[in-house]
Amino acid sequence: MLTEKQKEVWECFKNESPRILICHGAKRSGKTFVLTLAFLAHIAKFNGKGLSFIIAGATISSVRRNVLSEMERLVGKSLPFDKHNAVSLFGNKIYCFGGENSDSWKSVRGFTAAGAYINEATAVNDYFLREVISRCSHEGARIFIDTNPENPRSNVKINFIDKAGVMLSNQHVNIAAFQFSIFDNTALDAEYVESIVAATPSGMYYDRDILGLWTGAEGRIYPMFGENCIAAAGEQFAVVCIGVDIGGNMSATSFTLVGITKQREVYVVDEFFDEKNQDAESLIRNFCDISRKWKKAYPRLSDCRVDSAEQLFVKSFRAAASGFNVLNAKKTSINGRIYVINRLITQGRFFVDRRCKHLIEAMETSVWDSGEKGRDARLDNGKLNVDSLDSMEYALEPYFDELLAAVPPELAAAERGFR
Ligand SMILES: Nc1ncnc2c1ncn2[C@@H]1O[C@H](COP(=O)(O)OP(=O)(O)O)[C@@H](O)[C@H]1O
Ligand SMILES: [Mg+2]
Repeated sequence: MLTEKQKEVWECFKNESPRILICHGAKRSGKTFVLTLAFLAHIAKFNGKGLSFIIAGATISSVRRNVLSEMERLVGKSLPFDKHNAVSLFGNKIYCFGGENSDSWKSVRGFTAAGAYINEATAVNDYFLREVISRCSHEGARIFIDTNPENPRSNVKINFIDKAGVMLSNQHVNIAAFQFSIFDNTALDAEYVESIVAATPSGMYYDRDILGLWTGAEGRIYPMFGENCIAAAGEQFAVVCIGVDIGGNMSATSFTLVGITKQREVYVVDEFFDEKNQDAESLIRNFCDISRKWKKAYPRLSDCRVDSAEQLFVKSFRAAASGFNVLNAKKTSINGRIYVINRLITQGRFFVDRRCKHLIEAMETSVWDSGEKGRDARLDNGKLNVDSLDSMEYALEPYFDELLAAVPPELAAAERGFR
């Protein structure tokens, strides 16, 4: 059964058959579900024709997780990839592409498709998005797009959603767009929705993730970080780790010591910060001294994550470290990291020891820079201590999934659906 909002989308698909059908709005509001259904119905119209279709998303694995798994549920059978990342369905082929990189558009060049599904369009490179759409040149081709809202100046908002309602000469609507809030998904458990609403930071995140609005990122990046987050770590930790960001000409070097309790509260315990731009040798010596001191205080210290752009230091630190692993930082997307930290703050699970002066200053002063191409970015003007933020996040990144899944436990499985 479709939700009321999904019924509107389905009616539009059936009666108006827009060339591009867009569902935009809150996470878990039911966008992918209804568009997958429409995409399947569209492919079924070409039953046995041996045509090509496209599913595009940030990565192949996000395509599988978000779209193909929903498709498998709806058609009731598994859809395995062949060696070209394609699946066979209704006598047609659906080719899947990851499009987060700037040159991924090349992979769809020269392709003719009878339809495309684009999942989480703001996470896809702008050229790639354009290329996928222009590949849909077969007669009767239709394009289905879902996306979470981001910056209102982003390509998807300006060039697609804001152009909804324009008629083609054959009386077809060219683009139709529907906005979803989380409350539109009446298929979700009410208690689950309530817990998501409570765990979402107010302001931009609430507007985007709950209401589904395209609210610009402005002002402080961690608006809820304050005195209530300053606390000394007196806890027994389940996990203790170090993050390292190495400075260059314009930036500082930062080591951060982080502990996670059994209750999955995060404590930033100590920091080392150096803006003097030491030579490599002194930096390695500092690392030896400080990590030894930290290991003594916290024997559980197991991992150190170092900026992977600095292989010389990764190797030297590895040689110098005793009793713990030195690994490359994962370096996931900065906005993803910011999102997790903000959720932890909102949930009252993120604390910084007062002695971490640079990190505290960075968290209090870090601001958004939305100037560039409508993509949200952390302002990095060399004056703010973003290096402290990087090193703290490198330490925590490997634990993000577990940390997010922590609250409340009975909803953990459902929460993993977050991107
Ligand atoms: N009409 C429906 N009936 C049953 N379950 C639904 C329905 N619509 C959505 N869902 C479920 O709700 C969850 C979120 O829906 P989804 O379409 O993935 O949201 P979004 O794409 O907006 O993040 C999924 O688990 C999905 O299977
Ligand atoms: Mg989705």
